[in-house]
Amino acid sequence: MSKTIQSPAGAEHARILGTGGYRPSRVITNEQICQVIDSTDEWIRSRTGIEERRWATAEETVGVMSIAAAGKALAAAGVEAEQLGCVIISTVTHLSQTPSLAADVANQLGAVNAAAFDISAACAGFCHGLALAQDMVRGGSAEYVLVIGVERLSDLTDMNDRSTAFIFGDGAGAAVVGPSQTPGIGPVVWGADGSQYDAIGQTFDWSRLRDEPDAGFPALRMSGQQVFRWASYQMVPVAKKALERAGITADDLDAFIPHQANNRITDAMIKALKLPAHVPVARDIAKTGNTSAASIPLAMERMLEEGEAPHGGVALLIGFGAGLVYAAQVVVLP
Ligand SMILES: CC(C)(COP(=O)(O)OP(=O)(O)OC[C@H]1O[C@@H](n2cnc3c(N)ncnc32)[C@H](O)[C@@H]1OP(=O)(O)O)[C@@H](O)C(=O)NCCC(=O)NCCS
Repeated sequence: MSKTIQSPAGAEHARILGTGGYRPSRVITNEQICQVIDSTDEWIRSRTGIEERRWATAEETVGVMSIAAAGKALAAAGVEAEQLGCVIISTVTHLSQTPSLAADVANQLGAVNAAAFDISAACAGFCHGLALAQDMVRGGSAEYVLVIGVERLSDLTDMNDRSTAFIFGDGAGAAVVGPSQTPGIGPVVWGADGSQYDAIGQTFDWSRLRDEPDAGFPALRMSGQQVFRWASYQMVPVAKKALERAGITADDLDAFIPHQANNRITDAMIKALKLPAHVPVARDIAKTGNTSAASIPLAMERMLEEGEAPHGGVALLIGFGAGLVYAAQVVVLP
């Protein structure tokens, strides 16, 4: 007769206990971008909402930024690094194929009891990480999970490319997820449309450097209009479903924190969702640019710090990007 084995047992609910962000020190204005590409401050502001972005210095590596953001999130959560059962890092700009950035960051934080791994879900990475973290806490594979979104997109930006040079920024955002007596992270609505695999990507993959050492360094490229249309129209039913599955309506929201891709995408979503005027909307893109996996936690941190969104309030998050992939959920703000 076969033996019966134990199932893991976790907490009934999970929630975000604390967040933290790191914004690198170099402020890059639109005027500086326009010294290289043929564009204007007015064009960049009106087409994207970006006024300036932060670019990391050589010392502000993805590891350094991750540790700074994680330290703030752990302190805000009142959780020690040794209590972490897992460290998940979402990034597309850790430029070493292996080992993972998370293993290094976990070690430097002193998260001696944590599993650690990276995920690649581009600008939807933070929402993917949150979904995994809540499943871990509720499923019993970790009591506390640290989710980090970190990018140095300036490393993969062609400063001469008129279609991307003005968009991207660098930074890190982190959240500690742990057990809760009440629901704190709603059901995730996520997916991937690989038929649009080519919409955002690298100009060429790393293997070309093996055969053509003079090929230069790859950079991000994007079909701006294709991504714009997809995000503005296809993400609305995803956001609606996340609200529906959390059992609330747009009227119940205390904040809307979409991925900071472009203010015009955000505006289109607000309109299609019929978001009431009393719901504050994240506009961190103005000072931060598009930081991919870091954008949602950075925007969340700013809204909480500036008193724009209330601690304990309910926020709709939605991330979308290269893949094309997406993830949305409703959360209770820490
Ligand atoms: C990138 C983006 C801002 C470009 O805006 P757009 O309105 O689609 O721009 P287009 O490429 O259609 O070009 C429109 C006009 O602006 C011009 N233009 C393009 N880039 C320019 C620039 N950097 N500066 C000034 N003018 C520019 C074009 O030459 C074109 O001029 P024309 O009408 O005289 O021919 C927009 O497509 C976008 O934000 N897409 C989504 C990108 C995104 O969010 N990516 C991240 C997802 S995670």
